Amino acid sequence: MKLPLIITTTAAMVPLQAQASIQSPNLLPTPPMGFNNWARFMCELNETLFIDTADAMASNGLLAAGYNWMNLDDCWMTHQRAPNGSLMWNTTKFPHGLPWLGEYVKAKGFRFGIYEDAGNLTCGGYPGSLGYEELDARTFADWGVEYLKLDGCNVVPDNGRTSQQQYRHLYGLWHRILSGMSHPLVFSESAPAYFANAKSLSDWYRVMDWVPQYGELARHSNDILVYAGEGSAWDSIMVNYHFNTLVARYQRPGYYNDPDFLIPDHPGLTMDEKKSQFALWASFSAPLIISAYIPGLYKEDIKFLTNRDLIEVDQDPLAQQATLASRDGVVDVLTRSLVDGSRLVTVLNTGNSSVQRDISLRWLGLDPEQRYRARNLWDGTDEDIQRGIAVTLNPHATDVYKITVLDGRVEAIPTGIVFNTASGNCLTEYEDTVQFKPCTGGERQIWQVRGPEISPLSGSLECLATNGTHAFLAPCANNRAQMWSYQVSGNLKSELNGHCLTEGNGIASCGSELDSQVFGLPSGVKQ
Ligand code: GLA
Repeated sequence: MKLPLIITTTAAMVPLQAQASIQSPNLLPTPPMGFNNWARFMCELNETLFIDTADAMASNGLLAAGYNWMNLDDCWMTHQRAPNGSLMWNTTKFPHGLPWLGEYVKAKGFRFGIYEDAGNLTCGGYPGSLGYEELDARTFADWGVEYLKLDGCNVVPDNGRTSQQQYRHLYGLWHRILSGMSHPLVFSESAPAYFANAKSLSDWYRVMDWVPQYGELARHSNDILVYAGEGSAWDSIMVNYHFNTLVARYQRPGYYNDPDFLIPDHPGLTMDEKKSQFALWASFSAPLIISAYIPGLYKEDIKFLTNRDLIEVDQDPLAQQATLASRDGVVDVLTRSLVDGSRLVTVLNTGNSSVQRDISLRWLGLDPEQRYRARNLWDGTDEDIQRGIAVTLNPHATDVYKITVLDGRVEAIPTGIVFNTASGNCLTEYEDTVQFKPCTGGERQIWQVRGPEISPLSGSLECLATNGTHAFLAPCANNRAQMWSYQVSGNLKSELNGHCLTEGNGIASCGSELDSQVFGLPSGVKQ
């Protein structure tokens, strides 16, 4: 009955063109940090939990370290809307009401966030926002909410749209509503998560292509294992870590890939594993939203969660996502640049035994002839290094080093693996040819991108070239047959004929987000 009225209002109030945060990243210049109840408490949320959490975070150093979002997840509302169509909070769970709770946490220095769903119902079966978008946005703003996590359960295509188009339609509508408000809400989009596990990743890539235009962050893939869930929490962290490595190209100041919550009190995790999750998420400049019983966290948990150097990395204004410099099947080495000109190197042992690796400065795009200092961001110790760093890691542990040049400033060359993000295979130099092979490490799978040219580290005078049908290596000659551009779609396009590098075929005409044509490249490559 209310529906036509709401649609009319929406059409009248929603501006046709709305700005994206990536054009002007003022709304959320660095990734959000804070608390959300979901992975720890699921639907068991209430006022006391939020008060106790806010009080604990204000006194244990988490708020001071930057964790300042206090976000409600699903199940905060009643099963029916009010007669005027408004959403209502559950008064048993929130006896003083959400505006009161918002005021409470704000008085402590937090900001207040909420959860809804773009479809008919939330994932937990509460009223979704479909048809009520304008009203719900206004309601949230009236309650003092500044952040909306918009889930995508129960979205049903209409008007002949495909599923992907329907999500785009609804999230685009929300973007126009939210960004048209006098105080725009931060917009966290869960749309991509509904496409991440398909056999072909084309629709997932298509959704990822638009989420950065509409919001400030996107839950791109699986839910992290909840506290009461069955299975391995470490495996769940690794799955989400893996998904995040596939979408690095989308991230820039104003838009952040979200691999889901930090779960530092999950009983299935060792201390090395919890610290790894934090170090990896910080290296990605990912959102750091803790889902744990915060008053019960141990001192050692608070200690690593408030590690200043790693938080500074997470909040670095470049918001570069660390990308894979090398992957050998056990150890992943990731790297990125920081705003002060230093280089980050993050080393993850995915294996079940301790490992030792020598990591060459060349893998990080640095000139090995210079002198560098490496700071271990876990313990703050500095060491002068030449040519590389030797790292020893416990099972599932991660070390992070910040590398600064001792004399002046060095521009790192974007360096790392070039891999097909659907198959996971690495572009591999093999004599004068290139092949896609499982990533096993070594300099035949590490590439440097200098402007439009792409060279293997194993033979830096050779460039990736094409004759129009094949891709191969040839002596670098500064001609169009060796020039490539990297698109946000993930395509590597030849400047010779506009065709795309293709796993299996060498080079072929560019399709729309084809699995065989989407690649991950090192961070720092211009798009
Ligand atoms: C989905 C989301 C989770 C959580 C639940 C709530 O599964 O991905 O993060 O919000 O819904 O029902």
